[in-house]
Amino acid sequence: MKIVVTGGLGFIGSHTVVELQNEGFEVVAIDNLSNSSVDVLDGIEKITGKKPLFENIDLRDKPAVQNFFNKHKDIAGVIHFAASKAVGESVENPLLYYENNINALVYILQELTNLPQANFIFSSSCTVYGQAEKMPITENASVQPAMSPYGNTKQIGEEIIFDVANVTNLNSVLLRYFNPIGAHATAEIGELPLGVPQNLVPFITQTALGLRKELSVFGNDYPTPDGTCIRDYIHVVDVAKAHVVALQRLLKKQNQDKVEIFNLGTGKGSSVLEVIHAFEKISGQKLPYKIVDRRSGDVISAYASTDKANDVLGWKAELSLEDALTSAWKWEQKIRS
Ligand code: WQD
Repeated sequence: MKIVVTGGLGFIGSHTVVELQNEGFEVVAIDNLSNSSVDVLDGIEKITGKKPLFENIDLRDKPAVQNFFNKHKDIAGVIHFAASKAVGESVENPLLYYENNINALVYILQELTNLPQANFIFSSSCTVYGQAEKMPITENASVQPAMSPYGNTKQIGEEIIFDVANVTNLNSVLLRYFNPIGAHATAEIGELPLGVPQNLVPFITQTALGLRKELSVFGNDYPTPDGTCIRDYIHVVDVAKAHVVALQRLLKKQNQDKVEIFNLGTGKGSSVLEVIHAFEKISGQKLPYKIVDRRSGDVISAYASTDKANDVLGWKAELSLEDALTSAWKWEQKIRS
C-alpha cells in the first residue's frame, strides 16, 4: 500500500517514514527541503534498508500538487506533516504561515478527495488548547483562541478537515502532539538543528556539547512546584508509531467517526528544571543554565490525558523522558562528530 508522507524528511515525518516501512508500507516522501535535508533519505535507508521514494515539491504550488496526484493514483493514505512550525516566526510573518500551512492543506485535500479512498492523518498540536483549565488535558478540552498564527493555522486546519469530511469521502484522524523530543536510537535520524533552537531539548543538547554558553530558563516564578513550566515530553518514536496505528485504523475502517481526535502524550508532566536534572543524570554532565524572564506566549502547564489514545486508538507511549533525552544526546554528539 502506497502512503504519502508530506514533510517526510522532517523531524517527526522521517521517524514516521521509518515506522511505516517497518510495517511494510510503500512510502512516498514529499518535502521542499525548507527545514530538512535530502541526506535524511540515507539515514532512513540505513535504518530500514529501504530508501523511500522522494519528491521535492512545494505544496504551495497547486499545479505541482495536482501533477503529483495524477502520477500516483494508487495512494491509500496521506500523512500530512509539511508545515511551518516556529511559534515566534509565525508572529513576525503570519502570511508565510497562512499560505504554507493552509493553502497546502487545501490543495492536498482537493486532490485526495477525488481518489476512491481518502484517508488523511493530520499533524496537529496541543497548542490548540492554549492554557487549559484542567490537567491532564482531554480531547474534549475547549479549543482556546490561538496565541499565535502558528497555533491558529492548526485550529483552522482542523476545522477545514471537519468541513470537508462532512461532504466528501474524507476520513481523518487529527493527532494533537504534546512535546515531541529525542531521536531514533540508531542516531541515523533526528531533529536537524537549523539555526538557534527555539525548543528546550535541542538547546540543552547543544549547550551540553559546548555549542551554546548556557541555557536560559524562561522564568521560575510560575505557580508550579519548582516555579518552571510543565510540559508533556514524548519520544518522537512513540509519536511516529501512533501515526501508523492511526493510519491502520482508517485503512481497516475502524474509525467510529469520519474525523477523530487523539492527544499524543505520555500523560506525565515534567518541569523545565526536572528535564535539566534528568539530562544531567543521563549525560553525567552538569548543565550550565540561568533563570531569565518568562517567554511571552508560554502556557504554565500542559500534559495529556492518554485515556482516549490508549482505550480507543489502542496506542500508548512506551519510552521514558530519560530514553528520549539519551537519544537526543546521542544524536547531538553524532551530528557534531
Ligand atoms: C518548552 C518549555 C519554555 C527553550 C512548542 C510549540 C508547540 C509544539 C511543541 C509544534 C517552555 C522552556 C524553552 C529554552 C526554556 N510544537 N524553554 N528555555 O513552547 O512547549 O511548544 O513545541 O507543534 O506548538 O509551541 O516547547 O521546547 O519551546 O518549550 O526555558 O531555551 O521549555 O519556556 O516552558 P513549547 P519548547
